[in-house]
Amino acid sequence: MANELFNWLYRDIEDQARVILEPSNYNYYRSGATRERTLARSKDSWASYDFVPRIPIERKTVSSRSQFCSVELATPLYVAPMAFQSLLNSGAESQFALAANLVNVPYCLSSRTTTSISEVAEIASDEAERRRLFGQLSGFHKHMLEHFWQADEAISSGAKLFFQVYFMAEREVTFQLAEEAQLNGFSLFLLTVDTPVLGMRLSDLKMGFVPPEGYADKLYDRLVREGRLSSAKSADDIPFQPKSRDNALNQDPGIGLGALRLLKARVDLPVAAKGVIRQSDLYGALAEGADGVVISNHGGRQLDDTVLTADALWRLWDNFESSRISVDGGISNGADVVKALCMGASSVGIGRNAAWAFAVGGALGLASYLIELRIEIEYVMTLLGVASVSELGRSDITLSSRT
Ligand SMILES: Cc1cc2nc3c(=O)[nH]c(=O)nc-3n(C[C@H](O)[C@H](O)[C@H](O)COP(=O)(O)O)c2cc1C
Repeated sequence: MANELFNWLYRDIEDQARVILEPSNYNYYRSGATRERTLARSKDSWASYDFVPRIPIERKTVSSRSQFCSVELATPLYVAPMAFQSLLNSGAESQFALAANLVNVPYCLSSRTTTSISEVAEIASDEAERRRLFGQLSGFHKHMLEHFWQADEAISSGAKLFFQVYFMAEREVTFQLAEEAQLNGFSLFLLTVDTPVLGMRLSDLKMGFVPPEGYADKLYDRLVREGRLSSAKSADDIPFQPKSRDNALNQDPGIGLGALRLLKARVDLPVAAKGVIRQSDLYGALAEGADGVVISNHGGRQLDDTVLTADALWRLWDNFESSRISVDGGISNGADVVKALCMGASSVGIGRNAAWAFAVGGALGLASYLIELRIEIEYVMTLLGVASVSELGRSDITLSSRT
């Protein structure tokens, strides 16, 4: 059993993914904006903070249970939305969601999905698929997962799916996607507000990366056929932007935080604003009706030289109701996750590391990675001297004197 331990969390899955994936597909997942300085620095950003462990008074069972907006989380994780998962492995978004859901970790489906929303929802909770995947796990992972399931019994078993919304120039497609997600049992929307246009991913352009057709394109075609779309959108040639149906499916560059109110008027689920960095925007998002915010710089893919999310969280957010705050960017292990919780977030999104695990090992790789991540989160909490997420706070962490 010893060599089954931490096989995913502590091996270089990105290196393995680089060997397996077609080079321009690997690069699309790896890349950041222009000089990639934010991307490079974000990898070690959480290491700039050190724990200040407590001596626990009594031994208690550790629980990493948490909440984001009104969604209960068995552990403070979800898989961040990432476009075009058919580039990574067979089964694409459906198998990605299945693996996360097996471990009770919500999966956030991107608007740029290659698989239909209903198929993702169906496979993610399909009993036979779950049993098949469970059967493939190693003895160690099976054992730990059963232990987690027991601990999670009280958590409502329903949907563990979030949907990421891009406010597209063709609004009807945006709304149709959101309504479809709601109908299919998704529980939270992440409305991305940091992407008026796509960042300049120069290496993707150099490698001639071409995005695969997404589900929104199919929906667009259907709505056009049915005569349900407004007039054709501008075909302006915006530099560095992929041409998408005369730009109808590109993000609406002028929508801003006002999109929150428009989306909330159409759907009945909580909505969090994803991509907030400044405190004034956090207040702005809440004023526009956001139920929460995700502090994110889009994994260094938008504006290069943007402040790192660990630093943004550390400097700016200390007095908010933590169940409204989430963060992503460069998080790769349990210590990073617990540091984010100490700084005031209630959950974190895992982006590329989840993608590498899925690329290397499919649903089995991702499930194993997430199980190991949860083990480490609870282990770190134990060593830090806390038994629950609500006990974590600023005094448990300090900015390292070495940085
Ligand atoms: C390949 C790739 C595609 C992404 N696609 C989306 C997307 O469609 N919508 C979105 O809001 N964020 C998208 N993101 C950003 C992630 O949701 C997340 O903010 C970021 O990856 C977190 O950083 P990490 O990769 O260092 O964990 C994407 C990120 C990557 C790497």
